[in-house]
Amino acid sequence: MSTTPQYVTENFSDDLSDRASRHLWMHFTRMSTYHEGTSVPIIVRGEGPYVYDDRGRRYLDGLSGLFTVQMGHGRQELAEAAARQASTLAHFPIWSYANPPAIELAERLAHLAPGDLNRVFFTTAGGEAVESAFKLVKQYFKMMGKPTKHKVISRAIAYHGTTHGALTITGIPAIKQFFEPLVPGGLKVPNTNIYRAPEHLRDDEHAFGKWAADRIEEMILLEGPDTVAAVFVEPVQNSGGCFPPPPGYLKRVREICTKYDVIMVADEVITGFGRIGDWFASHRYDIKPDIITCAKGMTSGYVPMGAMIVSDRLYEPFRSGTNAFLHGFTYGGHPVGSAVALANLDLMEKEKINEHVRANEGALRATLEKLKDLPIVGDVRGAGYFYGIEMVKDKETRETFSADESERLLRGFLSKALFDAGLYCRADDRGEPVIQIAPPLICTQEHFDEIEQILRSVLTQAWSIL
Ligand SMILES: Cc1ncc(COP(=O)(O)O)c(C=O)c1O
Repeated sequence: MSTTPQYVTENFSDDLSDRASRHLWMHFTRMSTYHEGTSVPIIVRGEGPYVYDDRGRRYLDGLSGLFTVQMGHGRQELAEAAARQASTLAHFPIWSYANPPAIELAERLAHLAPGDLNRVFFTTAGGEAVESAFKLVKQYFKMMGKPTKHKVISRAIAYHGTTHGALTITGIPAIKQFFEPLVPGGLKVPNTNIYRAPEHLRDDEHAFGKWAADRIEEMILLEGPDTVAAVFVEPVQNSGGCFPPPPGYLKRVREICTKYDVIMVADEVITGFGRIGDWFASHRYDIKPDIITCAKGMTSGYVPMGAMIVSDRLYEPFRSGTNAFLHGFTYGGHPVGSAVALANLDLMEKEKINEHVRANEGALRATLEKLKDLPIVGDVRGAGYFYGIEMVKDKETRETFSADESERLLRGFLSKALFDAGLYCRADDRGEPVIQIAPPLICTQEHFDEIEQILRSVLTQAWSIL
């Protein structure tokens, strides 16, 4: 029996694209592109770090799907874990009940998480985990007799999800404007983009880190500590193009949160599960947040799964009496999702993926940094297997592109040209224009070289058409 799905036949290609443009609503997508005749790219299969389209063309998956496919595509171990669990118990809610894979996964995540983060509340996605953390801190402070603590601080251009609560925490005005008014109380502070830092701080990472963290303290004091419930930070911020924390920054954020009784939430939806070479980036940067939100890489994206991992202290008031966290999702703690996550963690351990990332991250950085000889490449930054390449009009002055130029560069040229050249990644202008690179964690030097060569050729062309 053939294992090729029925729709993967040559003659189906145009038909599938046509059907997609008629009925499928792609996320964050200008649908007009597909109504005006451009074919919808249709990905039908994956193997290792590569995916294949319906015409048989191969692409290096330079973004691991959407920062998800840590262990690469086509891993039979994960598919089989899903099939085994679905044929044993496909679904039963964890609303007052439990199932063995969810129990085991909660135990395992508590063990992998730093400090006393021992309580796991499952969700089905990252945004739901962020939404859950937002709601939890509000309920927690109400139960602790501090009902006015409800505001949340997060950073400029950060992405934390799209539901109303999570969108309040997201710091990208362009994706918020249509949905205002959002949940009240979202406050924004600067992120850790040192390339765009005030000029006097650009050459001193420590001073910049202290300056950026102090903006959080300043915001807490301006708003009143009695009104601020939480600070949400990604250990390495994705949106805007990979901003690692300057030395001392996250520890200072931790100190500030402790000082003002503010909950520190590390949003590790991207940085968890090996992306930065450890189970959680919080380990790598040696911090103990009060909550970790995570998703994506937990199952290598094979099934949707997310979680909020909470400290014993935050859980304490829920331990007794009639108190309950009045919140949940039908599919939280899904048996199939949990079973796949467990199989994925097994695979990561067996293949020593954190060690692999740590051993190879320097090579990925060095390979991408070769691109700095191109006139359009202003900055290459990131950590682990997680990089942003910022494009500029003038390297000396760091002048960026106008909105029109950026539109022409990213949407008019780069996204399609990179894909046509065999590299799936993201050209993004939620902040300054960047290319985001986050390959599957199984990648080695040969894949880094392939990424570099494609980027070099396409970015060289981009410069010539500007
Ligand atoms: C840091 C961060 N938080 C939250 C989310 C939202 O996750 P989801 O799309 O699974 O809801 C994302 C998605 O990319 C993210 O990067």
